Amino acid sequence: MDRIASSQRLKSAIWLAVAAIVLSATTLCAQTPPPPIMLGTAWYPEQWPESRWDADLALMQQAGIYMVRVGEFAWSRMEPSEGHYDLDWLDRAVTAAAKHGIYSVIGTPTAAPPAWLTQKYPETLRVDEEGHRAEHGNRQQFNFANPKYRELARKIAEQLALRFGHSPSVLGWQIDNEYSDISFDSDTKTQFQQWLKARYGTLDNLNARWTTSYWSETIFDWDQIPIQTRDGNPGLLLSWKRFVSDTWRSYQKNQLEVIRAHSDAKQFITTNTMGWFDGFDHYVVEKDLDLAAWDDYVGQGHLDPVKNGFAHDLTRGFKGKNFWIMETQPGSVNWAPINNSLDRGEVRAMAWHAIGHGADVVSYWQWRSALNGQEQYHGTLLGADGTPVPLYAEAQQIGQEFAKAGPVLAGTSVKSEVAILHSYDSRWAIDWQRHNKNYDPAAELISYYGPLRAISQSVDVVEPLTPLSQYKLVVAPGLNVLSDAVAKNLVEYVRQGGHLVLGQRSGMKDEDNGLQPQRQPGPLADLLGGRVEQYYALVDPVALEGKFGVGQSKLWAELLSVKAPDTEVLERYGKSNGWLDGKPAAITRKIGKGRITYIGAWLDGAAMTAAAKWMAEVSNVKPALGTVPDGVEVYPRYGNRGTVYILVNLSKTEQTVSLPFAMNDVLEGGSKLSIRLPIYGVAVLSGER
Ligand code: GLA
Repeated sequence: MDRIASSQRLKSAIWLAVAAIVLSATTLCAQTPPPPIMLGTAWYPEQWPESRWDADLALMQQAGIYMVRVGEFAWSRMEPSEGHYDLDWLDRAVTAAAKHGIYSVIGTPTAAPPAWLTQKYPETLRVDEEGHRAEHGNRQQFNFANPKYRELARKIAEQLALRFGHSPSVLGWQIDNEYSDISFDSDTKTQFQQWLKARYGTLDNLNARWTTSYWSETIFDWDQIPIQTRDGNPGLLLSWKRFVSDTWRSYQKNQLEVIRAHSDAKQFITTNTMGWFDGFDHYVVEKDLDLAAWDDYVGQGHLDPVKNGFAHDLTRGFKGKNFWIMETQPGSVNWAPINNSLDRGEVRAMAWHAIGHGADVVSYWQWRSALNGQEQYHGTLLGADGTPVPLYAEAQQIGQEFAKAGPVLAGTSVKSEVAILHSYDSRWAIDWQRHNKNYDPAAELISYYGPLRAISQSVDVVEPLTPLSQYKLVVAPGLNVLSDAVAKNLVEYVRQGGHLVLGQRSGMKDEDNGLQPQRQPGPLADLLGGRVEQYYALVDPVALEGKFGVGQSKLWAELLSVKAPDTEVLERYGKSNGWLDGKPAAITRKIGKGRITYIGAWLDGAAMTAAAKWMAEVSNVKPALGTVPDGVEVYPRYGNRGTVYILVNLSKTEQTVSLPFAMNDVLEGGSKLSIRLPIYGVAVLSGER
């Protein structure tokens, strides 16, 4: 009897002890999963006394913030001397956040090496193009190709993974921060030469593909190959960029492998990229990641929905799924020529613009400025005194709206009938040889993207090797470098019934940035039944006339010819340099159910709008929602439970949008047939036709 009683007492004591442990570990995070649409912020607990953390986290919680990004740049705190790691403080910060229902993303701190590291191993400091070695006191001073740096970076990433790889409130990982600065030291040059050897196999092959008989550029030994970033042999320039892309990929993989090895499969691994930045081929670097994320800054001025929207769609295209805004500006930045603030309401409009393009998280950089350090003037949600700035209330409104709309948006993503092909090779190739100094390859992409998005209300931006059969219309502005594999993908797409539109400068170069031995569009000329006879850089615009109305071509004009009886001329040049006068500027050819079009002019705004309308019409592309007033942006997100339309008014006046059918107003409530949007107004609507 006694034995039974004492064993029962023991059992209940054990139960109580277990319950106590479970209770003490119970946090709000453990009770609620992360919301589907989430507001976040960059938080640097190492910059503040621990006694302050709880107040910060409470204010975040009140703003509806569910995610903090912590750890990036804190290497000197995590490893104050070589091999001595201190992650207890970060553990306490992550635990404190979880108590407030705030999840964490851990950043590896490798964009900011500690002073002891670079002092002891100076070879880990990068060397710029002029031969200067970086020094301590800023960030990104490391050499991305240096083996010692990689060894130390891997160790700190491993320590972090061992500590946080199974923490339930850690959602994932951000490796490093905004890969950008590269090194030109002699060891990196040797790595480049070895990389070329692996790629080209023999010097004969390299010499042939780079046509080095030109200017006595023949390479006799691998170690004669220099690093060049401009004015060099086009084959060399493109190879260097490809080497840089592969080197960033292996730099990232070095950390990624140890994180994967020690973390829960549920934790994602990402890095934060920079939208239009083209320092490396993002399609290469993103291959190994689970999630794409970017840092969305306006800088000076105001939200440009076309330029910014393209960057969202580009980032979404890296993984072909929803992405994160890892950083965005709470009002203003500190690095633009004029650091104006976004208007009242504009930060909210920008957040919804991001969600509309497929972001699931919008995270502000940063929560509160460090009292000292280089970024004291940057926008924040708290002032130096630790209390909210005026924008905090707007963030809070966004937080509340995300909470309301989250359940409706859960599981939804963007789907488009139109794709724009984007290639870093082509952007670089045009940029190195603009031929007209004002010819900006990014502007060429935008000139198509803007009107096509306005008409279809949704565009994917994808790399040229992507399977294309899901699209009704595929547009390739400036697809300058055209490999055989891409040409094959495009021919198949047209033969299967798609409509391919090629823009200026397409199909001119081969995989090594050499000229195609055929005229543009090179391997696609036969399919087109026409070609570019000659290109002309323009000082003055050239008049245009035809299916896209009367207009002008600026910067550049390509004289097209028709070779097949069924290739039609869409547009012709007016009087110009004599060569172009009356000659075709745009041609098209039906191929079975498919079609291929070539536009050799840089169409002005009105002509491009007409061209986009024509492209949509012949390809049967319809607007996702219907016609809306100019300046009102429509963003559809599709899910199993129906479609959600986000509307944002970025025009300068209040707008009323009539809806094609009665829809639920998710933020305001009620069923609506029309919706009134003040300036920067937002609506989230759900419902089916
Ligand atoms: C970048 C960095 C951040 C911060 C912001 C400021 O995006 O990743 O650490 O410096 O700029 O705008």
